[in-house]
Amino acid sequence: MTKISPSILAADFSALINDVNDIKNAGAEYLHVDVMDGIFVPNISIGVPVVNSLRNSTDMFLDVHLMIDRPHRYVRAFCDAGADLVTFHLEADQPQDLFEAIKAVKDCGKKVGLSLKPKTPSVTLLPYIQLLDLVLVMTVEPGFGGQSFMHDQLQKIASIRQMIDNLNPACELEVDGGIDSVTAKLVKEAGANVLVAGSAVFRQKDRKAAVEALRNA
Ligand code: DX5
Ligand code: ZN
Repeated sequence: MTKISPSILAADFSALINDVNDIKNAGAEYLHVDVMDGIFVPNISIGVPVVNSLRNSTDMFLDVHLMIDRPHRYVRAFCDAGADLVTFHLEADQPQDLFEAIKAVKDCGKKVGLSLKPKTPSVTLLPYIQLLDLVLVMTVEPGFGGQSFMHDQLQKIASIRQMIDNLNPACELEVDGGIDSVTAKLVKEAGANVLVAGSAVFRQKDRKAAVEALRNA
């Protein structure tokens, strides 16, 4: 079944827990938390203390997406703060540090994901794929919500789906950026099973209808 992971980047941070409870009641499976450092991406968002507060306020599955430089320095802190899944970027660290970060997250008993920016080819995943619980394909350049879906990522999603089916069938395939009820259908057909959506959920009045529209696209 398709899982929906609303991104709090589009939520109202002054009333965050209300928005979180709202999308939990709307049936969303995951809560997507976008962490940006102003270096790996040209924007700054939130960090460890917010994950910690969310952990103390909700039992939702916290899907933490680190868009930060050299993530191996911080993955343990996000695990300790209560993330359930920690995903970081393949472009953001040296291979040996990526392996170290993957091991650190697993040693904390948490799920681990690797994310690819739009220009990063699927083949770069090969050394890591068997170690992962999730692959996150960016369908916009990371850094901002509300951008348009990049259709040229559909082929990459399909080839990663094949790689996962061949090498690690339990691994989830998540997509992030520009997902709405139209693009949701396309990414599902290409093989994605977890859909991140900021604007298409939090900017809608009826969040339950929005979550269902994505799930049933
Ligand atoms: C972008 C973030 C996304 C973003 C998605 O860098 O990783 O999670 O919030 O927002 P929408 O769904 O509005 O494109
Ligand atoms: Zn994200």
